[in-house]
Amino acid sequence: MRYLQEQEAWDRFVRNSLGENAVLVSVSKFSSDCRVYRANDSIVKVRRFTPSSIRGRNNSFEDEYLIMQQLSSVPGVPAVRSYKRVGEWEQLEMELMPELDGYDPTFGNPRETFKDFWDIVHVVIQINRLGCSHGDLHWRNVGRNREGGISVFDFDQACLASPWRCVVRDILGLGTCERRCEFSLFNRLRYVRGIGFLLRALARLARELIMFLSRTGPSYTQGVHLAKSPFMQRAMLQADPALETLAEAWSIASLSKASAPDATIAYYSIDIGGINFPGERPWILRWERIRKNVDFKGKRLLELGCNMGLLSIHAKLSGAAFCLGIDIDKDVLLAANLASRAFGTDVEHRPVDLGDSFRWEEELNGFDIVSALSVLHWIEDKERVWSFISRHKEVIYEGHESEQEAEGNLRRAGFTHIVPLGTTERNRQMFYASHKRVGVQLC
Ligand SMILES: C[S@@+](CC[C@H](N)C(=O)[O-])C[C@H]1O[C@@H](n2cnc3c(N)ncnc32)[C@H](O)[C@@H]1O
Repeated sequence: MRYLQEQEAWDRFVRNSLGENAVLVSVSKFSSDCRVYRANDSIVKVRRFTPSSIRGRNNSFEDEYLIMQQLSSVPGVPAVRSYKRVGEWEQLEMELMPELDGYDPTFGNPRETFKDFWDIVHVVIQINRLGCSHGDLHWRNVGRNREGGISVFDFDQACLASPWRCVVRDILGLGTCERRCEFSLFNRLRYVRGIGFLLRALARLARELIMFLSRTGPSYTQGVHLAKSPFMQRAMLQADPALETLAEAWSIASLSKASAPDATIAYYSIDIGGINFPGERPWILRWERIRKNVDFKGKRLLELGCNMGLLSIHAKLSGAAFCLGIDIDKDVLLAANLASRAFGTDVEHRPVDLGDSFRWEEELNGFDIVSALSVLHWIEDKERVWSFISRHKEVIYEGHESEQEAEGNLRRAGFTHIVPLGTTERNRQMFYASHKRVGVQLC
């Protein structure tokens, strides 16, 4: 499957362009071909042009660069440093903000929260006065800067318009405005809404039909929203049986009860071959944290609450001898089996309820590494599972408790060597822990 080649291409690009020490900070859940890295004292947004990575973005990174340059006088906007496009890659470099994980208002006291809120409005109004609307204001796009003030970043949905329209859009949350289209025909027609929409829809349909009929395959250039087109999506899937199997797996997982309650979306989001398999959480960010710190070669992995089993699949691809994924949900295990087949691996799966009175512990023997990623939260008798985990030499763990509590739980389970792997997009710390220092392999 082309997945491994694509991941190698990413590794090569990051090594050559950002350096060995670049750290992956975040991955878009809409496309894992859109990532943010920290490299020295810079933040670098990187995009590999694929149909899914350009879908739904108002701005290219070049647009974002130009917009941020225009906002360089606003203290709450990070200084932008450079924009580069080489082949299928583009990158946008800006100054590093100390608080990259965004700002979460629920943790502050009400007075501080109110002050922060006021500071955000203040920055946004300055941006608006310069004729720019941010267009995507939420807590993840806000952080604290070096001076302790508020900063606003991520201008990929920003647009240029008259200041009053910007205020209406950002502060009142009303209306839309297309990027840099203030003088474009479509934007003028936006005032006559129906005609504008109709023309845009017709133009898109015509473009996709031409591409479909000319069978040129996906073109990785900006502005081609292939992934949106049911025609093209089907053609791309049919061209690769592994992707077709994966699409089936994702569709089963999205209907299973193993994702967030009432959500009809799979748990993992991942991109392969220019197609985004949508899900609640981008898998690549967590895998990046794990693969750099855990050596799977020749080992036996047990994945508790495996869902679609992406950890087992990746462990197998990294040389694990045997992987078993267990989950309470039989449907999601069906999806996991299909996914394992699509990736060309032979992960085994078994339905097990970790909360059942049945002594499942006795059947699950002989594993070197056990993983418990976001699963203990859903189990009532946590002590029982911790006691099972403690029987193993190594554990990969992500919980819903605070970082300190998680570390305490790992220590109580007898793990002496505890390595924080980094936080996920949900602000949860991941850990690798062992009873003694085990050789760490850096990929
Ligand atoms: C939030 S998902 C985490 C998936 C995966 N471990 C990860 O983080 O990448 C929780 C998974 O645990 C499974 N689960 C919940 N309760 C369980 C139980 N009692 N026994 C086994 N699996 C359970 C769910 O079906 C779901 O697939």
